[in-house]
Amino acid sequence: MDADRWWKEGVIYQIYPRSFADGNGDGFGDLPGIIEKLDVLQELGIDGIWISPFFPTPDVDLGYDITDYCNVDPRMGTMADYDRLVEAAHRRGIHVIVDLVLNHTSDRHPWFIQSRSSRDNPYHDWYLWRDPKPGKKRPNNWASIFGGHGWEYDEHLDQYYFHMFYKEQPDLNWRNPAVVDEVRKIMRFWLDHGTDGFRLDVFGAYFKDAMFRDNPTKLGLRYFDRQEHIYDADQPEMMPWLREMRAIMDEKPGRYLVGETFFPNPEKAARYCGPGLLHGTFNFELSNTPWSASKFAKAIQRWETVLAKNAWPTNFLSNHDQARAADRLAHGEDDERLKVAAAMLLTLRGTPYIYYGEEIGMRGPRIKRADIIDPLSKKYWPFYPARDKARSVAQWSGQEYAGFSPVKPAYPLHPNFTKRNVEAQRADPNSLFNFYKKLIHIRKELPALRQGKYQPVSDDPRVILAYLRQTEDQTVLVVLNMGGKLTPFFLGGALTGMKWEFVLSNKRTTLPVLSNQTILLEGEEALILKAV
Ligand code: GLC
Repeated sequence: MDADRWWKEGVIYQIYPRSFADGNGDGFGDLPGIIEKLDVLQELGIDGIWISPFFPTPDVDLGYDITDYCNVDPRMGTMADYDRLVEAAHRRGIHVIVDLVLNHTSDRHPWFIQSRSSRDNPYHDWYLWRDPKPGKKRPNNWASIFGGHGWEYDEHLDQYYFHMFYKEQPDLNWRNPAVVDEVRKIMRFWLDHGTDGFRLDVFGAYFKDAMFRDNPTKLGLRYFDRQEHIYDADQPEMMPWLREMRAIMDEKPGRYLVGETFFPNPEKAARYCGPGLLHGTFNFELSNTPWSASKFAKAIQRWETVLAKNAWPTNFLSNHDQARAADRLAHGEDDERLKVAAAMLLTLRGTPYIYYGEEIGMRGPRIKRADIIDPLSKKYWPFYPARDKARSVAQWSGQEYAGFSPVKPAYPLHPNFTKRNVEAQRADPNSLFNFYKKLIHIRKELPALRQGKYQPVSDDPRVILAYLRQTEDQTVLVVLNMGGKLTPFFLGGALTGMKWEFVLSNKRTTLPVLSNQTILLEGEEALILKAV
């Protein structure tokens, strides 16, 4: 079997470990908790899990600020737990992807503590230190994406260090060979522990301009947005380094590298994805598109157009940084739109990522200002409460604390867990969970959905998103009615003369009656047909 099949044709599931499952009963999710839930993921048909950071951290950026890259945060387990997790996942055909956050460390990482201790410390040059300009001015105009200037002054050294995110997340100096060497070791450490892949956090920002030139300015709302980011990200040095990372991965078949581009637009993402580079880069378009057939069609087309012919798309609807798909797309507690969105995610060309809880339509809970955990959400309240909402506790059952933990969870829990939970949805044949499961299973059965080319079929693009997935031997038609009303769909034009067999719908169980080559779709119906 092709060793790349798991990531290329399979389905990947993102876990935010702190709120996924609590194995040791302290209210905080952990690796043993994930092990307990692997059976459900296997039942769903998952081929790989990406686990957001579980390394030791002082929690300023809730795990994305790391103090030890080769260890497990004691709240989330031990290295022995990680080994057990890899073994248990592999036994179920599930691959494990670790989140590597290498643009920056925590300011409490021993490297940074050394680095800021004196100018002659061997670690000093591991970070981006610069002398002030006359008058103690900042070295240049670079900004922090989390707000304000990106330079932090250190009184003791009389120097500034650069941080692209919080000031507690100093950026590493990727031009220092010792840093790169350490990163190679970190990669090998996790690969030696059986890790199948890495998700690279904001990799496009690793290298900065060697001359620390000012970014040109432009109009924009926030200080960060008022710059063209040509000197603080996407430097040419990225390419050889990505090639080297890929070569390390290729030492063994079936390993996978997926990256989060710093500016997540399709053009940037496409640049870094392809043979010899990353296997995949996330397409943020779908997760930013409102409920509109024509907007989704445009977003898909844009990505299909910019991506090189031999590059592979990576699609998702939700992640840990933005509002959940259910909060953006659904009406109240009704899940029909989410079924249509799921049908799109799982029938498009490319690797689909499901964000934990998406399969049961988890909504983000309402969070009071005083209860916000994420500093970013605190800072931009009420405009940016999304991250905490998207990281709420996984809803496993209707029992106390949603079956997540025997004690009050550290992360928020949506009160709808009494009705909306995995246990209830597994028992209900019409649930969103069972629809995801069916979609994943038909994807496994129909090669056209995994390997076929994407061919849009236009009919009524205002409400219907329709496309073919085609291999030489198989044609599958996906028709998604994003409108709320009965809508005809014409099977003429390019589809004339084809005969169809019913595969799946959220609204019916047999082929809809045809008259004059037209089928009548229910409102919010996802219909999948196979040509015979
Ligand atoms: C990425 C992560 C985000 C984190 C940031 C800094 O964008 O997805 O959660 O805050 O990088 O590491």
